[in-house]
Amino acid sequence: MQAELSSQVVLITGASAGIGAATARELARAGCRLALVARRKERLEELALELKTRHNTDAFIHAADLEDPEQVRAMVESAARHFGRLDVLINNAGLLRMAPLLAMPLDDMEHLMDTNFWAVVHAIRAAAPLMTRQGGGHIINVASAVSRRGLPYMAVYAATKWALAGLTEGARIELAAENIRFTTVYPGSIDTEMPRNLDRSRLPANYPNHARSRVPAERVAQAIARAVREKPVEVYVPWWLRCVSWACAICPGFVDRAVRRHYKTQSPT
Ligand SMILES: NC(=O)c1ccc[n+]([C@@H]2O[C@H](COP(=O)([O-])OP(=O)(O)OC[C@H]3O[C@@H](n4cnc5c(N)ncnc54)[C@H](OP(=O)(O)O)[C@@H]3O)[C@@H](O)[C@H]2O)c1
Repeated sequence: MQAELSSQVVLITGASAGIGAATARELARAGCRLALVARRKERLEELALELKTRHNTDAFIHAADLEDPEQVRAMVESAARHFGRLDVLINNAGLLRMAPLLAMPLDDMEHLMDTNFWAVVHAIRAAAPLMTRQGGGHIINVASAVSRRGLPYMAVYAATKWALAGLTEGARIELAAENIRFTTVYPGSIDTEMPRNLDRSRLPANYPNHARSRVPAERVAQAIARAVREKPVEVYVPWWLRCVSWACAICPGFVDRAVRRHYKTQSPT
């Protein structure tokens, strides 16, 4: 069943940049009421002003560091208090750090897990009881193509996104009885600050850049807006990544060889 977007209350994490900001613009155009969350408050203020001017959007901004579980809970509570309800939670905020597995500092690994996985666990645990009381809701988790296929130098990032995909699949079945729907979004390589500002100092000099094949953030935002309407189980952007994920499940050894060739890593002797 399709949900009417107009006047739905949607909380978007990571709204200060990239996919989150593009999603806010897309949903504002459709008439949603928005709660925008990130650490950089001035970016959120600029975006809220833009949305008010262009679409007369009622946007509520909340600055929070989602690595802190208390701040995650406060984010959900303050948005729900402001609007009196919460229809859709989009867990989009994310962090990418890349380095050889054996060289990556443990601290970096913990930041990755805290932002990409634990923040989502805490957000779901804060939002789900509230959605249950209001008769249902929709939670959209932005994972990654590497949720289906780990890649060299991003093994830990991939692990956080595999964890997120597993969390979403389990929660979807568990919370169906409460009428809480879940969607996993699997973006490929997207043109945002995340790849643009990536610290490549620990990567081999010949590590591929992929700059020319990156998809605009607006494509993901449009897919997320469609997901808010249609509540699908999974969304791949671009669409053909679904086929790649099948290939990864069916012939992982073949995909290993292709990945090794692409990333020019050494074959086992
Ligand atoms: N770009 C890609 O190629 C790609 C591919 C697959 C999946 N994804 C996923 O898509 C999502 C959005 O990524 P993007 O490409 O749009 O990245 P981005 O442009 O770097 O934006 C990341 C957003 O997350 C927020 N954020 C990060 N850490 C946070 C924290 N501790 N607390 C609160 N907010 C935090 C940032 O806001 P502040 O810095 O202001 O806090 C920013 O708004 C992420 O989950 C990412 O893993 C991206």
